[in-house]
Amino acid sequence: MTLKLSVIGTGYLGATHAACMASMGFQVIGFDTEQSKIDLLSKGKVPFYEPDLEELLDKQIKSRRLTFTKDINDLTDCDVHFICVGTPQVKGGIAADLTYVNAALESVAKIVKIGALVVGKSTVPVGTAEKLRNRLIEINPKSDLAWNPEFLREGFAVEDTLKPNRLVVGVTNDNAEEILKKVYAINLKEGTPWVRADLPTSELVKVAANSFLATKISLINAMAEVCEAAGGDVTVLAKAIGYDPRIGNRFLQAGIGFGGGCLPKDIRAFMARAEELGAQQAVKFLKEIDEINLRARQRIIELVRKDLANNLQGKKVSILGAAFKPDSDDVRDSPALDIAAQIQAAGAIVTVHDPKAIENAQKRFPALKFSEGINETLQGSNIVLHLTEWKIYREIDPVNAKALVQNAIIIDGRNALDRELWLKAGWKFRALGRTHV
Ligand code: UGA
Repeated sequence: MTLKLSVIGTGYLGATHAACMASMGFQVIGFDTEQSKIDLLSKGKVPFYEPDLEELLDKQIKSRRLTFTKDINDLTDCDVHFICVGTPQVKGGIAADLTYVNAALESVAKIVKIGALVVGKSTVPVGTAEKLRNRLIEINPKSDLAWNPEFLREGFAVEDTLKPNRLVVGVTNDNAEEILKKVYAINLKEGTPWVRADLPTSELVKVAANSFLATKISLINAMAEVCEAAGGDVTVLAKAIGYDPRIGNRFLQAGIGFGGGCLPKDIRAFMARAEELGAQQAVKFLKEIDEINLRARQRIIELVRKDLANNLQGKKVSILGAAFKPDSDDVRDSPALDIAAQIQAAGAIVTVHDPKAIENAQKRFPALKFSEGINETLQGSNIVLHLTEWKIYREIDPVNAKALVQNAIIIDGRNALDRELWLKAGWKFRALGRTHV
């Protein structure tokens, strides 16, 4: 008999996981406390932008393998419950807010059937899984809890969930591992590496991976700072070190740094948890990683100031990109939006363009001016900033663009534009970590 699965929390992670599990043939029921989300998802609509997800979700709803509910009692006959709720940064601190994870556990503990497995996927401070397991068993002694961290990237969520590069399961016994092997049978058959770990290690794998990625980005951004001081070119440097297979060429794109709902808050929560454990020295470097990252935003603002004779008052600044990265409408801790807001606060007249994130950006920064058209955004501009590397920005014709602006100055905050092309069209081209031409 096929397993029946529930997914608790239908945000980014949960909605994707639910749709993907249904597409693998399971009967899946998604649970959320927000009625508006349930209504949208039940109609096959995704409340955020993620390539391929809406199509997949809609198909699974129509196949009747996937349903959504606000009533926790609808989950009673599920064999496996995935907890996929968010763990944002606490207000006024750097630790993770576990309110939603704790609430999810309390809800599911009351309805879980004998022999069922609760599986945490949310990113949590190490030690959380054990506490949750103890609490679950206290309420419902014949159930069990495992941890199964998620490594999906926004923009590639479906692909990463259907074809993960590894599966990590934190378990306390063979039975829990066997159940998870049934859930991921298709992936196992396809040869996806399977790592069995204890609960704390499985929680740590996730934050260690995100710490590594954040460190890699800040390393190249630190090199960009040195390149600027020494007259080097960080894009050439990245290419050259990336040929070493031990280093690898991915995640070495220098620019305005990392944002989003994961990397920034995860490294901060990791520092907070390490301090509680008395291991703060071990991850002290992450503070530097965070600082290098935030400094990149200031460095670009400095470049703008330099080009506008140190006076932003009344200057027209056009910003291309608001999302924290391309192929996403997520603006959480977006470097692009942060820069836009700071430049506006310094007196400039800022117009921001983004193909997908305007609605979310508007909610976060209602005082900023947004535009749906690239040409309109560039019109009469004193300086253009390229801050999220959407493909459509690489397709802009610099000759046409020059005719629209007042001053042909562009700063490439993502090192993703073709510098030669822009120079040939007569633009002043600036970029982080590269000698200015
Ligand atoms: C990240 C991880 O990559 C996922 O593996 C993880 O599952 C996820 O967090 C999570 O914890 O849920 P995501 O936040 O979607 O995924 O975004 P990334 O692709 O990692 O990019 C993060 C930020 O780094 C973006 O702002 C991006 O623009 C920036 N970045 C990335 C750079 O500045 N340079 C690079 O070379 C790469």
